[in-house]
Amino acid sequence: MNFSIALVPGDGIGPEVIAPATEILDAIGDIYGHVFHYVELEAGGKAIDSAGEPLPQETLEAAKQCDALLLGAVGGPRWETLPGHLRPERALLGLRSGLGVFANLRPAVLLPQLKDACPLKDEVLAASHPEGKPTFDLLIVRELTGGLYFGTRGRSEDGKTAFDTETYSWMEVERVLRAGYAAATVRRKKLCIVDKANVLESSRFWREVAAVVSKDYPDIETSYLYVDNCAMQLIRAPGQFDVIVTSNLFGDILSDEASVLTGSIGMLPSASLGSPQDPLAKNGHPMGMYEPIHGSAPDIAGQDRANPLATILSAAMMLRYSFGLEKEAHAVEAAVSAVLDAGLRTQDIARRTSTPGSEKIVGTKAMGAAVLKELSR
Ligand code: IPM
Ligand code: MG
Repeated sequence: MNFSIALVPGDGIGPEVIAPATEILDAIGDIYGHVFHYVELEAGGKAIDSAGEPLPQETLEAAKQCDALLLGAVGGPRWETLPGHLRPERALLGLRSGLGVFANLRPAVLLPQLKDACPLKDEVLAASHPEGKPTFDLLIVRELTGGLYFGTRGRSEDGKTAFDTETYSWMEVERVLRAGYAAATVRRKKLCIVDKANVLESSRFWREVAAVVSKDYPDIETSYLYVDNCAMQLIRAPGQFDVIVTSNLFGDILSDEASVLTGSIGMLPSASLGSPQDPLAKNGHPMGMYEPIHGSAPDIAGQDRANPLATILSAAMMLRYSFGLEKEAHAVEAAVSAVLDAGLRTQDIARRTSTPGSEKIVGTKAMGAAVLKELSR
């Protein structure tokens, strides 16, 4: 089959991590008989430099025409002093809302090869794991196009007060909850709604919606947790979680926390999905935007030091969710796993394995090349 991919390499390490991901996609195409056609687009700092704004209209319109979007990272110190509406991060928010990708799936899994990179002790991990194993496998579903990041914001006339607003409609809460339930159905059938319902009206509203929506999923065990408690539980007992569904703000914060438990933020992919019924959906598959959860890491940009695995794993999620290519997605994930088994490590995940000496520290290009070689075996 033929697929068109909007490619936004972006700033900092973005282009370095995108390059191996596209090589791997091309190899998948060769092996399984697909053609991936890339439409390279500018957004973020690069677009500010060339077009004077973080998300040019042409970029958004061109992305809408594609089957999915793969993004490296945007931002950097060069653009940090610009006013809010001109910052590179606006491009991310504009793409997310413009493409209608409201459900942000952020899996956090402790891979056996990277177990020693997790800062928690084995006994802490094992205590909360359903089978007493020192590991965890959870999925954060973050609402991505509403809430505080999109609510009314501003300053008072005298400049002495500032405000942001948390607003959620029934429809927005319902659709992200359903995305969470759909994920839980094919996982361990547990869904935890994280909010601050002891204080916030919007959180109490989430619970009202959940009370209705959860009736459609009698097989799934629904629970509720306040966000402050959840922040603590993630470190105390991560094994208790399967799927966490939460608001834009809380999901942003908790997913960074969860990434530390997996050893490195350089390992975590993400998928942001729209609805399969949306006009932008193609062939019954939702529009999707795929990106590593890490940023543009300007401190190591251009040095061949970035870990490309989060982006490669994001490309695997794209194969699965936007193209319906499960076998192909699995092949990429298995190749990544094999390369880690062989002891290859970028510096962010190095020197923390149980068998030091068996690992080999490599750069971005060599890591990408190793995954590619594994695929073609
Ligand atoms: C993320 C990032 C972004 C967000 C920033 C860069 C706007 O932190 O994807 O988690 O807050 O969503
Ligand atoms: Mg974040």
